[in-house]
Amino acid sequence: MVREGDILHELTADHALTAVTFSRIVALPVGDQERKTLVDEVTADLVRHSVTEEHYLYPLVHRLPGGAAIVDRELLSHRAVEALLSELASRTARTPDFDRLVAQLIEKVTRHNGEEEARIFPVLAEAVSPVRLFELGERARRLKALLVNRAEAIMRRPS
Ligand SMILES: [Fe+2]
Ligand SMILES: [Fe+2]
Repeated sequence: MVREGDILHELTADHALTAVTFSRIVALPVGDQERKTLVDEVTADLVRHSVTEEHYLYPLVHRLPGGAAIVDRELLSHRAVEALLSELASRTARTPDFDRLVAQLIEKVTRHNGEEEARIFPVLAEAVSPVRLFELGERARRLKALLVNRAEAIMRRPS
């Protein structure tokens, strides 16, 4: 069972936020500049989410039976998403392949998040103590706040 405040709850909330941003992107007309703004927003959310999972979630998965292979697959999936995000970083909403890349991003991330929620989170909810999952939830929140603050500090830096 996923409990309020534990790391699985925290990561599921991130997935839900990403899904909302994706639906806002697809609701906008092709070429609309706001699509790029939302892609930038989802990029920052996805990077923070992946860093958090790689720090606190995947080490738990690694200890499960067959966990090493699962982690390898999940990391490959994170790297594929990052490659798409870095392609998108150099595009505008009017670049010809922007929409194809956005569609690929949505498909990959939605599948990845769905698999985590269906096949990984329930197993961890059974295998790891609620106290440990809550403690990792606290750490995940602290790490994400730190990453937001650092990103804001970098953006404020005089050029
Ligand atoms: Fe992930
Ligand atoms: Fe995730």
